[in-house]
Amino acid sequence: MNHLVVYAHPNPASFNHAILDAYTSELKASGHEVRIRDLYAVPFDPVIVQSDYDMINRGTPPEDIRREHDLIRWAGTMTFVFPIFWAGMPAMLKGYIEKVFSLGFAYIFEGDRPKGILKGKKAVIINTTGGALNYYQKSGMIENIRQTIDGGIFRFCGFQVLEHRFFVGVPISTPAERSLMLEEVRGIARSLSS
Ligand SMILES: Cc1cc2nc3c(=O)[nH]c(=O)nc-3n(C[C@H](O)[C@H](O)[C@H](O)COP(=O)(O)O)c2cc1C
Repeated sequence: MNHLVVYAHPNPASFNHAILDAYTSELKASGHEVRIRDLYAVPFDPVIVQSDYDMINRGTPPEDIRREHDLIRWAGTMTFVFPIFWAGMPAMLKGYIEKVFSLGFAYIFEGDRPKGILKGKKAVIINTTGGALNYYQKSGMIENIRQTIDGGIFRFCGFQVLEHRFFVGVPISTPAERSLMLEEVRGIARSLSS
């Protein structure tokens, strides 16, 4: 299967990068085609401006958006690897979604009702947090994030969300805990292989 992995972390030495490496190595070892979109490395311009809207509304999105559309058309599964920043996604990834999941590509209107048109595609989301398990269990924040990201973005556009995994308390985790996390990441990749 064709896997497009969208990665959004500014630091190439981050734990998120270790997740990216573990995940994509395992996918490749299972014989999948893998393409990585490292948004900070591209670098992707995440700021949507009026001319983007104008071109999208005319049905001729600008080149930087069309390039991403081609990659998404190619993919059967999209995986998103990113840290939680201010209870959501980093601005870089939010901007990617704002620009790339555009009208006419990711959704259309039937009358006044929006309809996702990326049906048949699958999504996997892997997040890390600074907040500890205790905080996340008590606050309900994980469920809120699932609702806005899985529901508000991916299911809205027609994706089937296969997995949304949170690795919590990463900055306070031990090396042994991190290596277990990476083993889980490899397990997620293997689970997509059948
Ligand atoms: C700008 C910014 C905002 C953050 N906001 C949150 C947050 O809302 N909730 C949280 O649990 N952690 C937050 N964090 C902590 C990161 O999620 C955490 O450091 C990261 O997931 C650890 O992974 P890394 O080692 O790969 O960076 C934030 C970090 C930064 C830099």
